[in-house]
Amino acid sequence: MMGDLDEAVRYANGYHPDGHYPLALVNVTNRCNLSCAHCFVFRDDNPNESVGARKEPSTDDLIALLGALRDRHGIHSMLWMGGEPLLRKDLLRRGVGLFPKNLVVTNGTLPLVDLGPDVLYIVSLDGPEQVNDEIRGAGSFRRVMKMLDHLPDDFATPVQVQCTVTTRNQGHLAELAEALRGTRVGWMTFSFVVPAEHDVTGLAWETLEDRMPAVEEVRRVKERYPGFVRNRTLSLDLMAPDAARDVTASCLTKQLLLPLWLDGDRFTTPFCCYGDDVDCTRCGAWVVFEMAARLQRTA
Ligand SMILES: C[S@@+](CC[C@H](N)C(=O)[O-])C[C@H]1O[C@@H](n2cnc3c(N)ncnc32)[C@H](O)[C@@H]1O
Ligand code: SF4
Ligand code: SF4
Repeated sequence: MMGDLDEAVRYANGYHPDGHYPLALVNVTNRCNLSCAHCFVFRDDNPNESVGARKEPSTDDLIALLGALRDRHGIHSMLWMGGEPLLRKDLLRRGVGLFPKNLVVTNGTLPLVDLGPDVLYIVSLDGPEQVNDEIRGAGSFRRVMKMLDHLPDDFATPVQVQCTVTTRNQGHLAELAEALRGTRVGWMTFSFVVPAEHDVTGLAWETLEDRMPAVEEVRRVKERYPGFVRNRTLSLDLMAPDAARDVTASCLTKQLLLPLWLDGDRFTTPFCCYGDDVDCTRCGAWVVFEMAARLQRTA
């Protein structure tokens, strides 16, 4: 792989070799130790290879390629994802040195490595134990709580939790916030599921109007845990159906964030960071509404 940058990335879906992308996301592995019900990464119609199906590039190759892509596209912030990125600890340790800002999104079931105070871990949990485990797999909630409990006192990297809100967990959000109080988690955010166009999981709402009770529940949990739940009020306001249609129709995430998905020994750019098979009209991704809220505030 990767002697030649142009051979190493297949730019597709409107992404350009000469584009400026301040943000990027990289799937550093297509392997994962969980199999979550809502996961977009392993959907059949997304560009991916099943667990362990193909050899992945070496750490040296990936570091060299990501450095070259940083220089080419002006990437400032890198979102490290997978699959499960903690399956490639060595890559993370070296990779976070490449970019001014780094966020690692992890399922939190494997021990975290200390990446210093300037990196942020975003640990995924989707409810209190029973609800989380129905979505993310039996035993996963306890594994995450145990991992948090075992972080050394001097562990420097801050930890945030992100919960993906679905029809399954929308009634249990406050319980999750309560369970996280008193742990090493500094704060949390709620994102809303991004469904496939022909969603078969039953975890997404049919319409944006149907989603509103879940949005209102996040607002209530935010009021109950001020400072701990960090969704902005304006970004929740923008999830009202008419506003949400405008936000997703001119998605800033699609414009500013370069998604790099591993496809065998090279990268490919899917339609957006949620893959190819997405229903934009029902997208509830935190990042999409957060960016729109920031833009409105500065307008
Ligand atoms: C795909 S995972 C990869 C990183 C890591 N394995 C994890 O679970 O955090 C990144 C995040 O996307 C979320 N996610 C998965 N499927 C989603 C979907 N259909 N819509 C919105 N978020 C989703 C996960 O819950 C997780 O918070
Ligand atoms: S842990 Fe992350 S990548 Fe793995 S299946 Fe769950 S959401 Fe997908
Ligand atoms: S699915 Fe969401 S993040 Fe992806 S392009 Fe559509 S609106 Fe943007």
